Amino acid sequence: MRDSLLIIEDETLLGNELARYFRKQNWETTLVCSLAEAEKYLEQGIEPLVVLSDMNLPDGNGLDFLEQLKGVLNSTEWLFLTGYGSVSDSVRALRLGAYDFIEKPCDLKRLNLLVEGAARSARAQRRLDNQAQEQNNKYSIRMLVGKSKAICLLREMLTQVSQVPFSSMIISGETGTGKGLITNILHYSGTRAKGPLVEINCAALPRELLESELFGYEAGAFTGAKKRHRGLFEQAHNGTLFLDEIGEMDIELQGKLLKAVEELRIRRLGGDHEIDVDVQIIAATNKDLQHEVSAGRFRQDLYHRLNVINIHIPPLRERLDDLRELVQLFIAENNAKSSKNIRVIPDTVTQKLESYTWPGNIRELRNIIERCVLLANSDVFPEQWLQLPNSTTPAAAQMENGVFLPLDGTLTLPDMEKYIIQEVLNRTGNNVTAAARMLGTTRETLRYRVQKYHL
Ligand SMILES: Nc1ncnc2c1ncn2[C@@H]1O[C@H](COP(=O)(O)OP(=O)(O)OP(=O)(O)O)[C@@H](O)[C@H]1O
Ligand SMILES: [Mg+2]
Repeated sequence: MRDSLLIIEDETLLGNELARYFRKQNWETTLVCSLAEAEKYLEQGIEPLVVLSDMNLPDGNGLDFLEQLKGVLNSTEWLFLTGYGSVSDSVRALRLGAYDFIEKPCDLKRLNLLVEGAARSARAQRRLDNQAQEQNNKYSIRMLVGKSKAICLLREMLTQVSQVPFSSMIISGETGTGKGLITNILHYSGTRAKGPLVEINCAALPRELLESELFGYEAGAFTGAKKRHRGLFEQAHNGTLFLDEIGEMDIELQGKLLKAVEELRIRRLGGDHEIDVDVQIIAATNKDLQHEVSAGRFRQDLYHRLNVINIHIPPLRERLDDLRELVQLFIAENNAKSSKNIRVIPDTVTQKLESYTWPGNIRELRNIIERCVLLANSDVFPEQWLQLPNSTTPAAAQMENGVFLPLDGTLTLPDMEKYIIQEVLNRTGNNVTAAARMLGTTRETLRYRVQKYHL
């Protein structure tokens, strides 16, 4: 199917010239001369990839038309042709989220570049929307498994929260407790389920990159900024922006984030105008943010702004009542995946699972069960593959903070390195940031080694 372009232009000569030109560029082009006609065209349920519109039309203003259609045409990009070099109109166009504007008379080649840019941006938005729809059915509150008091209460809270349009919230909990899962549930069962869920891990990028990812940039804003880039705030328009590991964000950038969240308006790097964005923020952290605030590492004002709703997920060791259901869930999932049929869980296995401290929480549990199911050769859960550090003996308790390496030639030096990294990844539930911290190295170095050893 060809991409569709709607041209709204009442000057017949110009309209025809534009339509002819873009048909030649292989656009499925429709030309209308008034807003009423445009409305009639759109009523058929057609969503053009790009709308190229005049500002002043016989039956109204193109900008009012765009404003009126906000929320209906979410993944269409708008380009405006301005007649009289009117600055205030163009500023309003951009604030309403138009892709760009161009003054008449316009050079067709330049216009074509703009239309192409707008099309790329609209396509990216559509991909996000499609993903959102596919995911829509995948996440429901029932997916949060567990019968402990804490989880029952959490499910009740999520049911309530998902029915109200909240502006921001903080989810806290140790690594692997389900912060990502809850974010997905909240988005896909909430009022913004049809909009995109856009995620970023604030610990994964250096400050400058994180800033340009969040806010976007104009061409030429810095070396390497070849094309205009819409930031995550814009991409999350009408949806949810998930800021993972917010506690790691640079304090100066926190100031900029606060302004954006308060005003729901952002400015691209190198940009000269502000853009309205309608996003709901979910911020996650495995740190104690209040403690970070008192230590001067997290801005108090941002903390209060985000903390409209606060959800804390307790670690697995404090809700062992959830273990049985979770184990059953993960066994069933992996039985299906690897055509195994584990049905018997010996009491000794349950005891071991219940006396372990689960530093990597549910993610660690999930990984261990996966390994055990994969290596099972009967319908009995293979206890020998549990390999949990036995925290009851003093020697092993010591080992919780370290690893045991046999120095009898069975392991080569690279084997040892590989073993240490694997062990730390297991204990952190594959959390690279936490693992790097434990190993006193950077995420980049650790990632390199993970690749090197195919971990
Ligand atoms: N209550 C639960 N029921 C079922 N699955 C769960 C539950 N909690 C967590 N999980 C699963 O455990 C895994 C880890 O959860 P998730 O990635 O959401 O943790 P997280 O808190 O975001 O961790 P991190 O801080 O490391 O990013 C996921 O596969 C998730 O689906
Ligand atoms: Mg996560």
